[in-house]
Amino acid sequence: MAILVTGGAGFIGVNFVLGWLRDHDEPVVNLDKLTYAGNLESLASVMDDARHVFAHGDIGDSALVGRLLKKHKPRAIINLAAESHVDRSIHGPADFIATNVVGLSCLLETSREYCEGLHGAARQGFRFINVSTDEVFGSLGDSDPAFDESTPYAPNSPYSASKAAGDHLCRSYFHTYGLPVITTNCSNNYGPYQFPEKLIPLMIRNALRGDDLPVYGDGRNVRDWLFVDDHCAALRLVLESGIPGETYNIGGNAEMANIDVVETICDVLDELVPGAHPGRHRKLVTYVEDRPGHDRRYAINASKITSELGWQPREAFATGLRKTVEWYLANNVWVEHVESGEYRQWLDTNYARRAGRA
Ligand code: NAD
Ligand code: DAU
Repeated sequence: MAILVTGGAGFIGVNFVLGWLRDHDEPVVNLDKLTYAGNLESLASVMDDARHVFAHGDIGDSALVGRLLKKHKPRAIINLAAESHVDRSIHGPADFIATNVVGLSCLLETSREYCEGLHGAARQGFRFINVSTDEVFGSLGDSDPAFDESTPYAPNSPYSASKAAGDHLCRSYFHTYGLPVITTNCSNNYGPYQFPEKLIPLMIRNALRGDDLPVYGDGRNVRDWLFVDDHCAALRLVLESGIPGETYNIGGNAEMANIDVVETICDVLDELVPGAHPGRHRKLVTYVEDRPGHDRRYAINASKITSELGWQPREAFATGLRKTVEWYLANNVWVEHVESGEYRQWLDTNYARRAGRA
């Protein structure tokens, strides 16, 4: 028995693979293209582990995926391979369409052929987990009820539109071909190994360097934050007990305005960094031009996965954020290593020409 994880060198993938190998003997085949967001250094502790087989490649490479499936005969595929950053999708949607739509459609087709060649219990038990996002549901007003599984899709960014297209393809593979797909729609994750283009690690990184903390718009956009280990636990539960054809919303029940998240990071850093004066980091907050089409609020109603599969988040935002800040303080070298020329170019593309709002 084995599972195939795609995108296992990215943020959630690394946390999923490390957690899996900590708790299971079952091998993991890890297929990742190693884009700017994929990092083998994060997997250093398991690169010599016989239970972890790393394959460098693209989910859209049907020949490669077909060979991996034939050789390792996984009982499940958990697809975490994606282009995942909204701002990058605004600057260039093509990679998002290539991986999140075309790549996923190739992976579905290769998985279908593989699944149809399975027999008996192997076929019955096979699962394809499509890891998606709450952003497919669009934007909520302040008093709107949280997204549930029946909320209509209304994606607003090229990223969320590409994820929505992928979700629809997954749905069609269940209904048309009987491929046992389960889709999860999760809120904003945070935790160790997150690439420092996303809000929380970017703010930690900038604050530690004494750089500006660029808050988009009025800073009152709301996200529902979930510690990454809780997301991974939900995915494991969905893999073992989820019903094919169903979708499950996953969220942290931790809605926060961006400015409150940033100021909390500042306060934790004031406390943890020796010699920092109280209030020092908050002075770095700089309001900048907003993200085009910026969704105002996301909130997840996770009652289905709680009542049907018994999942709920274990980590409170305050403790999860502190653990995350501590991880980045202890892993400064990891951050330095991911700061390639490409990363510095991205900072320039996204921030240098973004006018301050005073
Ligand atoms: P990430 O950007 O950190 O990692 C993505 C990984 O996929 C990288 O290792 C990259 O190299 C790999 N990859 C990209 N294109 C590939 C391809 N064509 N073939 C193989 N590998 C490829 O992303 P993440 O934050 O870990 O997100 C993983 C998944 O979870 C995505 O589908 C994302 O939409 C979803 N999700 C993320 C969040 C979040 O807050 N991060 C929340 C909800 C859902
Ligand atoms: O909701 C789930 C989604 O969460 C995932 O599907 C995406 O893959 C993931 O990237 C995340 O999307 P967001 O756009 O919400 O995450 P990001 O960290 O980019 O931004 C969080 C909020 O912070 C958002 O309102 C924009 C704001 N922001 C972000 C950056 C990078 C800033 O104010 N300044 C910044 O510099």
